[in-house]
Amino acid sequence: MAEKSSGQDSGNAGSNAMWGARFDRGPVEAMEGINSSLHFDRRLAAQDVRASRAHCRMLGKTGIISSEASSRILEGLDLIEKELADGSFPFDAKLEDIHMNVEARLAALIGEDAGRLHTARSRNDQVATDFRLWVRDNIDALDDGLKAFQGALIAQAETHADTIMPGFTHMQGAQPVTFGHHLMAYYEMARRDRSRLADCRERLNECPLGAGALAGTPFPIDRAATADALEFREPARNSMDAVSDRDFALEFLSALSIAAVHLSRLAEEIVLWSGPQFAFVRLSDSFSTGSSIMPQKRNPDGAELVRAKAGRIIGSLTGLLVVMKGLPLAYSKDMQEDKEPVFDAAGTFESCIAVMTGMIADLEVDKARMAEAANAGFLTATDLADWLVRSLELPFRKAHHITGSIVKLAEEKNCGLAELALAEMQKIEPGINADVFSVLAADKSVASRSGLGGTAPGAVRAAIAIARKELARKELE
Ligand code: ARG
Repeated sequence: MAEKSSGQDSGNAGSNAMWGARFDRGPVEAMEGINSSLHFDRRLAAQDVRASRAHCRMLGKTGIISSEASSRILEGLDLIEKELADGSFPFDAKLEDIHMNVEARLAALIGEDAGRLHTARSRNDQVATDFRLWVRDNIDALDDGLKAFQGALIAQAETHADTIMPGFTHMQGAQPVTFGHHLMAYYEMARRDRSRLADCRERLNECPLGAGALAGTPFPIDRAATADALEFREPARNSMDAVSDRDFALEFLSALSIAAVHLSRLAEEIVLWSGPQFAFVRLSDSFSTGSSIMPQKRNPDGAELVRAKAGRIIGSLTGLLVVMKGLPLAYSKDMQEDKEPVFDAAGTFESCIAVMTGMIADLEVDKARMAEAANAGFLTATDLADWLVRSLELPFRKAHHITGSIVKLAEEKNCGLAELALAEMQKIEPGINADVFSVLAADKSVASRSGLGGTAPGAVRAAIAIARKELARKELE
């Protein structure tokens, strides 16, 4: 089809209609298979049309092509956009990639003027432009997902600003915290994830068009005009860098990898908390699955999959880093391998963030279980040591030692620190008085950590207020 419609074939049967003139034969099937990127880069179709439109308008305005040719091409691109939208665009894998598909279709629709669109352009600056536009569009979409996730965290944190739970280090009970505080830690991670994506967006926002194949173009193009039309901050400064740089894809994948690691850590906690050993939370039916053999099970498959998908996203980053590391300047076809990892990681992250947002929003918390765990395991031992320092003016190291002996005593008696008799504690340190009980319960411990960034309910509410303002502000940007 394309051979006829492009009007560029000169009889060398089977060779490519776009570049086949100096070839006698076309590629064998295996070569065609490995070379064709259409099955994945068709996802760049909208960006390809957008960038072609900007390039074409610029060619018309600068007089590099006639305004009649420019108008005809723009009309053809409009038709193509409609075909893409209604699904009637005739994709042809033999035409290698999306760029040649669009150009061949343009030729079929408007005839020979289609061949003028590629004036002062190469597929190398074209694909770099399309791909940057795609990543930019997707950063915006994923940022919306992260924002919704932050909203779900804030809502639960507000409900559970006073809910006491054990905080862990080394996966062992360490000090009591509030569940709201724990959740707001993930808000902070998501805040940095969004800021990393925003940085990536800012750095990628330079327009490669005009770089040509690698060396620039002899035509008097207006690079500022195309950059402007596509809402890039400025034209890329070096033509060789512009066509061979994939930092933006690597940065996007790095940002997604880090964000996916955050989701994975939360997923791991949900798996632990929802299991019968902890039983701190219950996942809603919407995010749980049953076992085909064990009727009692409510498996946290959603959380487990989010945990696993982080591995897949990190794999995409690693894969592309390895593709890029040995490439000389400027373009090599290796770089066609940049798209699948990026498409896959973006789609994977999108589903992870949606599932995680839903799981957090629906989470039911067993406050009694959490409080019970927070009051077991001597989690207020540090509070006791701090009390000895404050009230008896002991050096912390000595206070730590005395507390250790008191914990040992409680362990022997199989009771909590708050349940020890005053006289028993006084046998270990005579200076201890009844005021010590004001710090031995988990809620007291939590309430005392009321400074900025602390776990006290008031401090958590203050953090939530700041977060809410921040989210509302970002909404407007
Ligand atoms: N499909 C190619 C890619 O994704 C487009 C650029 C082809 N350039 C070339 N010189 N063969 O990288």
